[in-house]
Amino acid sequence: MTSPVRLALLGCGTVGSDVVRLLHEQSADLAARIGAPLEIAGIAVRRVGRDRGDLPVDPALFTTDPLGLIKRDDVDVVVEMVGGIEPARTWLVEALRAGKSVVTANKALLAEDGASLHDAAAEGSADLYYEASVAGAIPLLRPLRESLHGDRINRVTGIVNGTTNFILSAMDATGAGFAEALEEATELGYAEADPTADVEGFDAAAKAAILASLAFHTRVTAADVHREGITEVTAADVASAKAMGCTIKLLCIAARGTDGQGGETVSVRVHPAMIPLGHPLASVGDAFNAVFVEAEAAGELMFYGRGAGGAPTASAVLGDVVAVARNRLAGVHAASESAYADLAVRPMGEALTRYHISLDVADRPGVLAAVAGVFARHDVSIATVRQGPAGGGPAGRGDDADLVIVTHVAPDAALAATVRELRGLDIVRSVASVLRVEGGA
Ligand code: NDP
Ligand code: HSE
Repeated sequence: MTSPVRLALLGCGTVGSDVVRLLHEQSADLAARIGAPLEIAGIAVRRVGRDRGDLPVDPALFTTDPLGLIKRDDVDVVVEMVGGIEPARTWLVEALRAGKSVVTANKALLAEDGASLHDAAAEGSADLYYEASVAGAIPLLRPLRESLHGDRINRVTGIVNGTTNFILSAMDATGAGFAEALEEATELGYAEADPTADVEGFDAAAKAAILASLAFHTRVTAADVHREGITEVTAADVASAKAMGCTIKLLCIAARGTDGQGGETVSVRVHPAMIPLGHPLASVGDAFNAVFVEAEAAGELMFYGRGAGGAPTASAVLGDVVAVARNRLAGVHAASESAYADLAVRPMGEALTRYHISLDVADRPGVLAAVAGVFARHDVSIATVRQGPAGGGPAGRGDDADLVIVTHVAPDAALAATVRELRGLDIVRSVASVLRVEGGA
């Protein structure tokens, strides 16, 4: 057998410690698959003295000097499992420029400044693999980057954040409110100590940018993604969705479109949306992830599995490690980023969506006509109107009534302007909720 492929591991937390464990447990199989053993050259962490339980690794391998480790001559592959923009960017650019292959799970960095990493990889003729950065264990980026390269992808719709899917699934199953469901997610260890990136949609937006870049051969960054989280979703919204035969999911949607001149565009957005119970993503519960891809020749494809957690994410990291180790032994590296299409990113206002709007209105003659007039002025067509609470009950409450309106497809800007005008009407006591509707409900 040839000499070992030597790994610099950066980070040994939730993901890194499971990578270390799997490297130990699977060492013989991994060596047989690669044609050379994998060896850990060092592990960079923040606190060398941290108690790491029974991790099967020599404590002498730990260091607090990631750059020193990366620069060592005996390091072939750098595996980054720390996260954040800096200093991770500096480390990875340094490694790639020096011709060392990089495997990373860092979605935040790839979405913020993937260009610097791809450019450095091209400069150093090195591999840059990042399967674990989106949807944890689910093989998704390799299929987009390789298997579907002969096809034309038109749309990617996904549930790519486990924490928010757990919360929304709990709200749907038990009628719990957002705060209660978040507390349960935290108790079960799904949500992070500071769950802002999850519940405000930043995590999903980063993943959406990575997916859109690969699917549409265009550099899309997190700043290009329209982002809304799930903190405003109420138990009443969930009940209303149920009454319509729908459920609410935090979706990431990346879609091809055209601008006014017929030029191709891409729109990328993350927001909660109602989807019909028959939609392939509706049954994705708990902390699972799933991504639905629509391609011209392949048709509809669905990828499903565990999108978070140490072992599932470590599985994706190790798959990449095997691929880059094999490439190294063969003296090749994978094709670099494909961003030739360079499609313009369409503003959210031009995205075509449908709205589900719950209003608290005065219950008197002419109110329905006045409300309908607002929609007509903004050229938004109404699909259905229901008066009364979700799930049935009296149509009015004294002088007030609940009104639920679902629209046909219209530009998001027209829908937003409609809601703005409704908020200003004195017959509208409040706009209780506004949710987008996706997938043919
Ligand atoms: P953790 O917080 O559990 O671990 C982070 C690790 O990085 C720790 O070992 C920490 O050291 C080390 N570290 C932090 N700062 C530095 C530094 N400045 N220098 C050296 N080491 C440092 O994170 P996760 O394992 O959860 O996540 C790692 C990456 O994987 C992130 O990019 C994340 O987005 C991504 N990811 C995570 C998933 C998950 O389910 N957890 C799923 C998919 C992707 P120490 O141990 O001493 O504290
Ligand atoms: N916090 C993320 C989630 C981890 O809940 O999906 C996986 O990227």
